[in-house]
Amino acid sequence: MSGYILAIDQGTTSTRAIVFDERQKVVGVGQKEFKQHFPKSGWVEHDPEEIWQTVVLTVAQAMEKAGIVPREVAAIGITNQRETVVVWDRETGKPIHNAIVWQDRRTAAFCDKLKKKGLEKTFAKKTGLLLDPYFSGTKLNWLLSNVKGAQARAAKGELCFGTIDTFLIWRLTGGQSFVTDATNASRTLIYNIVENAWDDELLDILRVPRAMLPEVKDCAADFGVTEPSLFGAAIPILGVAGDQQAATIGQACFEPGMLKSTYGTGCFALLNTGKDIVRSKNRLLTTIAYRLDGETTYALEGSIFVAGAAVQWLRDGLKVIKAAPDTGTLAESADPSQDVYLVPAFTGLGAPHWDPDARGAIYGMTRNTGPAEFARAALESVCYQTRDLLDAMYRDWRREGKETVLRVDGGMVASDWTMQRLADILDAPVDRPIILETTALGAAWLAGSRAGVWPDRHDFAKSWARDRRFEPKMDGPTRKGKLKGWRSAVKRTLMAA
Ligand code: G3P
Repeated sequence: MSGYILAIDQGTTSTRAIVFDERQKVVGVGQKEFKQHFPKSGWVEHDPEEIWQTVVLTVAQAMEKAGIVPREVAAIGITNQRETVVVWDRETGKPIHNAIVWQDRRTAAFCDKLKKKGLEKTFAKKTGLLLDPYFSGTKLNWLLSNVKGAQARAAKGELCFGTIDTFLIWRLTGGQSFVTDATNASRTLIYNIVENAWDDELLDILRVPRAMLPEVKDCAADFGVTEPSLFGAAIPILGVAGDQQAATIGQACFEPGMLKSTYGTGCFALLNTGKDIVRSKNRLLTTIAYRLDGETTYALEGSIFVAGAAVQWLRDGLKVIKAAPDTGTLAESADPSQDVYLVPAFTGLGAPHWDPDARGAIYGMTRNTGPAEFARAALESVCYQTRDLLDAMYRDWRREGKETVLRVDGGMVASDWTMQRLADILDAPVDRPIILETTALGAAWLAGSRAGVWPDRHDFAKSWARDRRFEPKMDGPTRKGKLKGWRSAVKRTLMAA
């Protein structure tokens, strides 16, 4: 059997398809951005049909670039933006509404209502999550209550609910497979991560009929085969994981205490806690890192909503840079005597603050402040937020004697300046791998190892290689002063919300 593996990485702003060869080398990439819909302030939607078209297109692009035909692909791995909700008609396969995206805040008032009823503890205990609009459950409740007839149709089993992975597998298999994996399920607010099952009490509270839920599988499992008319071959889908969990796998963070952070639209840090379900006292999330051979590995997660999105804002909103890679160079030229702080709470603040009403703010501007100081403030805000997450994580859980090393990936890590600043602010080493396509690599490994054409977990972890380690260089008093300035900026932003 040939060892080509196709990874489909369906992200928040673009879809990517990547072909890896049997030595885990990238040999073909397809990429397509799609439209973001903002029907009201704080609302974010995607058109599931457009997402589907980008998948078909990018798969064709990637195979063409790799110079292979579909029957040479041994297996497909899928990874996806998590929490985003799609509901479709079981009969026709047509979505009944646009997908409601993880960033969407429309259910903030509903979350407050549930909190006032004292339900946050129940949700946290069972799902490891908090009552924030970020997660799928309240979005699904919104769809069922606001699309005419949806609640009744769902109860009759006429509608299907899925995160993006489920929707894509349904489409890829021509409606034959209605499935998800444990990591995606763990982000829905209706999945019990202790029992590894959909939870009736939570389904009841959110009025979600069980009849509309997919079957939950391990991350490496038989998810179905592609409908032959689609690519001209029946390719098995053997791996699925939410994108942050896939990156954790791609970074080979298989040991308790290992830690990764991915810098995409947002930033998501995951700390492997092994078999321990660690309950955060610092408002982090407890989540499933992966489930393999029926064994669940858990993680603590810190989620920040704005990372690369701050750079996009510099480019598209302020227009102070032409392209994202210019940011580091511009930041480097900033005046060191100016203490400018950006709190990028454009869509509220995530962990560890969780304030959906907070909005972005900038502090410390003087008459001399210009584009360079804005660029530096934007990049530093990502470093400070990562520090806040790691501090919270280590207050919750720490393996004695283990050094903190952060493995990083995502678009922003290409900037040496940003990675050096990150190490300086964290006061810990930052490791950048050679393969930066870690999210896709994680999904590909799940599929490739299951197909028996890629190495097992142990050998895969051994093959992880570092491109560069960034050691902290900033002196203590400077770091301390900067962190003090940042914390005061966050405090003021939260007070203003
Ligand atoms: O939880 C949301 C996350 O899965 C989105 O990731 O990379 O699409 O911004 P990304």
